[in-house]
Amino acid sequence: MTIEAEVRAEQDRPITAEADFLTLKDVDHIEFYVGNAYQAAFFWQHGFGFEPVAYSGLETGNRETCSYVLQQGKIRFVFTSSYKPDSAVAAHQLIHGDGVKVMAFQVDDAEQAHSATTTRGGQSVAPPFERRDEHGVVRMSTIATFGDTVHTFVDRSDYAGAFLPGYKAYTSLAPTKPVGLAHVDHVVGNVQLGKMNHWVKWYHHVMGFRMLQHFDDEAISTEYSALMSKVMQNGTGRIKMPINEPAEGRKKSQIEEYLDFYRGPGVQHIAMSTGDILGAVRELRSRGIRFLRVPDSYYDLLPERVGKIDEDLALIRELGILVDRDEEGYLLQIFSQPLQDRPTLFIELIERHGSRGFGIGNFKALFESIEVEQSKRGNL
Ligand code: FE2
Repeated sequence: MTIEAEVRAEQDRPITAEADFLTLKDVDHIEFYVGNAYQAAFFWQHGFGFEPVAYSGLETGNRETCSYVLQQGKIRFVFTSSYKPDSAVAAHQLIHGDGVKVMAFQVDDAEQAHSATTTRGGQSVAPPFERRDEHGVVRMSTIATFGDTVHTFVDRSDYAGAFLPGYKAYTSLAPTKPVGLAHVDHVVGNVQLGKMNHWVKWYHHVMGFRMLQHFDDEAISTEYSALMSKVMQNGTGRIKMPINEPAEGRKKSQIEEYLDFYRGPGVQHIAMSTGDILGAVRELRSRGIRFLRVPDSYYDLLPERVGKIDEDLALIRELGILVDRDEEGYLLQIFSQPLQDRPTLFIELIERHGSRGFGIGNFKALFESIEVEQSKRGNL
């Protein structure tokens, strides 16, 4: 089949079917552009228990940007700031504040990933290139996605260094206390009103993802806030990317608040899985991490709604953890407050017990809680 015929065939598939032209093995890393990489790294190390493992900056010969790479379980975050006012990193940070710039995926072939996606309508940001040092070679390529966010394809099969060529291994002066975060469960994008279906189709046609679930505004609305969401997933099920758009409500949707403050579409939250959410949340609360609190009435109704679970409900209530159940099992989750000055990016912790869902049963209680916070910010 010619590439044109192949692309046409892909475009005719229902968006619930998956394709095999792009094999993403896992999330390689997520890179944030921030105002001060050193302080961001300190926050993620001592706040969330991520171990600093690599560094790039003036001392490594990098006179443009400063980056710290931190890891916990299989989750790898990179925090990058600019030394100069006239750089792409500085421009991004000026417009968006601190936020996610790159969601990178591990692939076997960065060149194939680039050509497979760009021939299907993906926009190239960096054609295939390689970087080398004494530890080997890494092959990469990058395409654009929603807003100013990009996806980078990384083939590190011939590399043994700390992160990427240009980075040096880094050891923190103080020990890191991990809290048991294991891997990236899903990453959610917020896009403008009317754009959700565009990006759903984009992930389907360009990346070969399929639609796993969709939530309409009736399922996810409160008196004020409303949103619509569709969950896209790659062929292996390893990469899950829900896409949200605001829906009409009586007052401002939380998605609109995000879009206003981020100045456009971007990553709304990163969900990280853990095998012990109770232990993790207890520890994170003691370190001062701010989580959303749902009303107490949520816990009065919980036993009836979710039935029997292994965890102690009194403890779940004390820590403010949410529970949802579907046909396959149940899940425990919790959402942080925004992690920077702007009410934009936050994180979720999730512990799955069979359920592959996203906690839709919690949305209403959760949104009421988000609205309380939005109202304090004068944005409702
Ligand atoms: Fe989530």
